[in-house]
Amino acid sequence: MAYIVDMRSDTVTKPTKAMKHAMVNSALGDDVFGEDPTVNALESKIAAMLGKPAALFVPSGTMSNLIAIMVHCSKRGSEVIVGDKSHIFKYEQGGAAHVAGCLVTTMENLPDGTFDLEKLEKKFRGSDIHEPITSLVCIENTHNVCGGKVLPQKWQQDLAAICRKRSIPIHVDGARIFNAAEYLNLPMKELVQHCDSISVCFSKSLSCPVGSALVGSVHFIEQARRMRKMVGGGMRQAGVLAACALVALDEVVPQLATDHKRALRLAKVIEGMFLKCFTVDVQTQHTNIVLVRLTDACPARAGDVVQRLAQVSLEETQGDCKTTNDEGVILKSVIFDDRTIRFTLHCQISDEDLWLAIMKITYVFKEIEAKATSNTRVSAV
Ligand SMILES: Cc1ncc(COP(=O)(O)O)c(C=O)c1O
Repeated sequence: MAYIVDMRSDTVTKPTKAMKHAMVNSALGDDVFGEDPTVNALESKIAAMLGKPAALFVPSGTMSNLIAIMVHCSKRGSEVIVGDKSHIFKYEQGGAAHVAGCLVTTMENLPDGTFDLEKLEKKFRGSDIHEPITSLVCIENTHNVCGGKVLPQKWQQDLAAICRKRSIPIHVDGARIFNAAEYLNLPMKELVQHCDSISVCFSKSLSCPVGSALVGSVHFIEQARRMRKMVGGGMRQAGVLAACALVALDEVVPQLATDHKRALRLAKVIEGMFLKCFTVDVQTQHTNIVLVRLTDACPARAGDVVQRLAQVSLEETQGDCKTTNDEGVILKSVIFDDRTIRFTLHCQISDEDLWLAIMKITYVFKEIEAKATSNTRVSAV
């Protein structure tokens, strides 16, 4: 059997032993009645960590972002401004329009996950009777499609100053906000000080099976609790899930630095191969996501490379060409676009897994480079 290294996403992580233990042993109650002590403990803890008065445990990051938009944009005809590479815009089924009934306007995301604030100021609408009313700006930290980038604090401060002048709130999709805090070595509350609401995920880098929290003011969370009920996110003995999140805060958060170090090592190895078909930007490698770009010289598309990495050729398991062990290695990754592949590090990738992944990448990338030199079109084996 080939050895599998799964770097598709940090969502593939499974609950740890301590989480399973906590699931069985935590006190439970009906959370829709507000009576689950474990959920209540998690909500208090995460609110305090983020320096906001209240929090709400919800099933997913998508629901958390949707509820935030519904609450901030409760007036009909509201407009929400989001980045064009944001998860909210690209991957949430257009829920902001579909369910919340908002006009979604995009700003071009710059490579660092930010957007141009001068251009943003020109986007705000509402003074003219013909226009919708801009009611919310959403940002993403870390920014997934931009390669796990951490938004600069100064940019957030400038954004907040602009939004405050117009009383427009800021919502952060902080699915990986713990990674951002680790990278900047900042307390979470400092990281989100300029924002009105934050969605954090426990089911990504933190290894929990399910769960996110929406964090904000008491009034905001009261409204959010109503909206959660409406979209079917009211859970009963949800303490079995919240228990994992409480463990994650103590057990997994301190390990994020290791994921970041391993991601940097992977990026440096790829850069150090000096390939003409593949590039990686080590200078802007922040957290646990590594993006590999295919250059114009690359005869393969991202889909071909992802497929090839997930297969084991006969030559790989024989003679001098062996990647690693006799059975070979399957490396799972994802396509971001036709020229971009994403590798995601997480707490269930060990040093040995990383080493095997590097061996596999080296083998496959060199195989593709050889084909580029001989002008052969690449397809999976
Ligand atoms: C940046 C970002 N926001 C939100 C989500 C949505 O989270 P969920 O899958 O829990 O709905 C994801 C999921 O990967 C994400 O990467």
